[in-house]
Amino acid sequence: MTLNQLKKQAAWAALDYIPPGSIVGVGTGTTIFYFIEALSTIKNLIYGTVSSSNHSTLLLKKQGIRVFNLKNFSSITNYFDSADEINNRMQMIKGGGAALTREKIIAAMAKNFICIIDKSKKVDILGNFPLPIEIIPMAISYISQEIIKIGGKPKYRKNVITDNGNIIIDVYDLCIEDPLLMEKKINSLPGVVTVGLFAERSADILLVGTPKGIKTIKKNNF
Ligand code: 5RP
Repeated sequence: MTLNQLKKQAAWAALDYIPPGSIVGVGTGTTIFYFIEALSTIKNLIYGTVSSSNHSTLLLKKQGIRVFNLKNFSSITNYFDSADEINNRMQMIKGGGAALTREKIIAAMAKNFICIIDKSKKVDILGNFPLPIEIIPMAISYISQEIIKIGGKPKYRKNVITDNGNIIIDVYDLCIEDPLLMEKKINSLPGVVTVGLFAERSADILLVGTPKGIKTIKKNNF
């Protein structure tokens, strides 16, 4: 099976985690493209959605699924999103699609983060995938210099402006042995909007698409 088929399999399996009448938190990316397709088949059973990016909002509206402004809610039940990498503590690197800040906001507001991935995203140590950081444009030199001090190689992501009007740098060659500490350290640099490490707010349920079918992992069940 191709990775796209595995993403699709995981995305459809996520429908089992949607309570009728609920507000569904929707992430961003190719896996979420399949999730939105799946969600459209039960759109009359949910109340609506909140979205983590302008792109996902467009896709949701195209499918006739209601999208609400997040500011009208103080919490939601379930947030569905994928990841670029996830370790066995359910900590993730996210932001390959540049939507990390809004994704982190919805994830923080959600009772459950349901992560849907193809099997290639599971890793022992985070950092092989370049770590995205959304930053305020004027801080690029300062932040790049600070990232080099902690052993990373920062690279400006060309031609990308986030939905919040900022830029992204991708950090290569970081071996992230302590994701919680790294998340705190990078988030504390002035000019950083969000680092794409989801260690403090890790996933609760992981649905992995594999050639043998869906593997379901719950936090603390390793
Ligand atoms: C977007 C993200 C995505 O969840 C992550 O990049 C995985 O994407 P895909 O489903 O395309 O593999 O964090 O900002």
